[in-house]
Amino acid sequence: MAEAKYETHEYDVVVVGAGGAGLRAAVEASAQGAKTALVCKSLLGKAHTVMAEGGIAAAMGNVYSEDNWQVHFRDTMRGGKLLNNWRMAQIHAQESPDRVLELEEWGALFDRTKDGLILQRDFGGHRYARLAHVGDRTGLEMIRTLQQHAVHQGIDVYMECNLQRLLTDGGRISGAFGYWRESGKFILFKCKAVVLATGGGGKAWKVTSNSWEYTGDGVTMASDVGADLLDMEFMQFHPTGMVWPPSVRGILVTEGVRGDGGTLKNIKNERFMFNYIPDFFKAETAETIEEAERWYEDKRNNRRTPDLLPRDEVARAINSEVKAGRGTPHGGVFLDIASRRPADYIRRRLPSMYHQFKELADVDITAEPMEVGPTCHYSMGGVRVDADTTATTVPGLFAAGEVAAGLHGANRLGGNSLSDLLVFGRRAGLYAAEYCKKFTGTVSLDNDQVDSYAGEMLAPFESKGNENPYTIHADLQECMQDLVGIIRTEAELNQALMIIQQLKQRSQNVKVEGNRHYNPGWHLALDLHSLLNFAQAATLAAIERKESRGGHTRDDFPNTDVKFAKVNIIVRRKNGEMNLSQEPLPEMPDDLKALLEEKK
Ligand code: FUM
Repeated sequence: MAEAKYETHEYDVVVVGAGGAGLRAAVEASAQGAKTALVCKSLLGKAHTVMAEGGIAAAMGNVYSEDNWQVHFRDTMRGGKLLNNWRMAQIHAQESPDRVLELEEWGALFDRTKDGLILQRDFGGHRYARLAHVGDRTGLEMIRTLQQHAVHQGIDVYMECNLQRLLTDGGRISGAFGYWRESGKFILFKCKAVVLATGGGGKAWKVTSNSWEYTGDGVTMASDVGADLLDMEFMQFHPTGMVWPPSVRGILVTEGVRGDGGTLKNIKNERFMFNYIPDFFKAETAETIEEAERWYEDKRNNRRTPDLLPRDEVARAINSEVKAGRGTPHGGVFLDIASRRPADYIRRRLPSMYHQFKELADVDITAEPMEVGPTCHYSMGGVRVDADTTATTVPGLFAAGEVAAGLHGANRLGGNSLSDLLVFGRRAGLYAAEYCKKFTGTVSLDNDQVDSYAGEMLAPFESKGNENPYTIHADLQECMQDLVGIIRTEAELNQALMIIQQLKQRSQNVKVEGNRHYNPGWHLALDLHSLLNFAQAATLAAIERKESRGGHTRDDFPNTDVKFAKVNIIVRRKNGEMNLSQEPLPEMPDDLKALLEEKK
């Protein structure tokens, strides 16, 4: 029996990932009475959510009383190029304010308005200043608060525990299997429901803001047991990552710098974003520098600075400036806040950015501009979920946060990620617990399934091959960066697909030295499975969508195409192969359609 062979634990709900979505899901599942485990790859409190800097988007109306969920809904849909799941966008806009207030009740210390309300800052694509924040360390405060809450609730936490495979019984979830990073010993969870909250797969790209955990685990685990993946072609390249020195290339420079007054300039000191305002946004975007300056002084005039256009627009503009030879010496552009804001304001509002540049690049951002450029940041695509319940297409499997798809459509607005984690993390915990209450029969584990996973995971020690996992990872990152980047073509994508297939072959011959005790080479060898599958799904979907929209820009199809305007690309695994299909978006009700049509 598998239980006798491997360390085994039994729960109702196992939550995989302890970032914002995982923590919030675990808190909810446990509050609903489900016996809950929280399993995380790194230490509790070190999840990638701590890297989210600028804030949580929620239409609380603390700075602009005109703000409301309807405007937030419209901004989110427009930012996502109308490819969002409308119901998720509606729920998200309606529930975010309550989730922020709840976080405050649980102890989060937000920055304040003069009246003592939670302060909200400007971010790209949001009509009103809407991001509740804690300086530029919002994600850190969110994790601190949720973690404390979870620990006080007595939730069992398994840290440095890497789950690699889901177990099924008659098509429904029966558990999960993985290993302890420290000892290398296997661990088996027997459970009725699993909530995936593992984040994205940005580590498949070379220049990325993502931390080491972001290897596409959840997307691959779900797809391996037959769950649908949706819109994997949409990868967000955040416009501002560090570009220099090389060792820190890709580290996030928060959009909060621009939200607080920073502007982008090319090597000729031109505010080039004025040349890139898309027609779609002309009505509400400043078209001259003077207008933008006035906007900063009087934000109620309903004109936006083009530095705060949605991220896909800004990233493409920076890419074009650099390609046209107007970039900085290290291949980026300048981000200047020093000439617009006093030093004490910058240090108070952006303390992490101040220290990050001082310590990593020897740049004083209160006196000189930063050098920045696009960095792979966020996957809008992921596991397909039901909008209300977060249930995937596999019974007993739920997903929330970046690993899930739908809310953000073709492009996510900044700040909508942290609110996504809270809103859908809570729902995932709630509905997973409800699923357990209605569960009938018994959970049983398939011994052969578990043994075969154990065998696959130990194969790198017994391999006769000589492939190095680090080399394969580096080759994959090079391939994705060069061929599946901000701008793609069919020829490049086909070449990428061929390389990924070759890398998959090579990964069968990975050889790992040493033993199972804290062996990073072995850990990476195991992560290659998810990295390569994530990359393959993203590339296949990018070939299928023959148009440009949001985070997917095709040089060979530079415009949006009405044929794809209301279509999701689905990747579904069958007999080991990834198959593609196109499915129509769910039809939006008329009252929401009307909201989208409103001008101001
Ligand atoms: O720019 C930022 O602070 C990132 C925030 C986000 O991705 O939501």
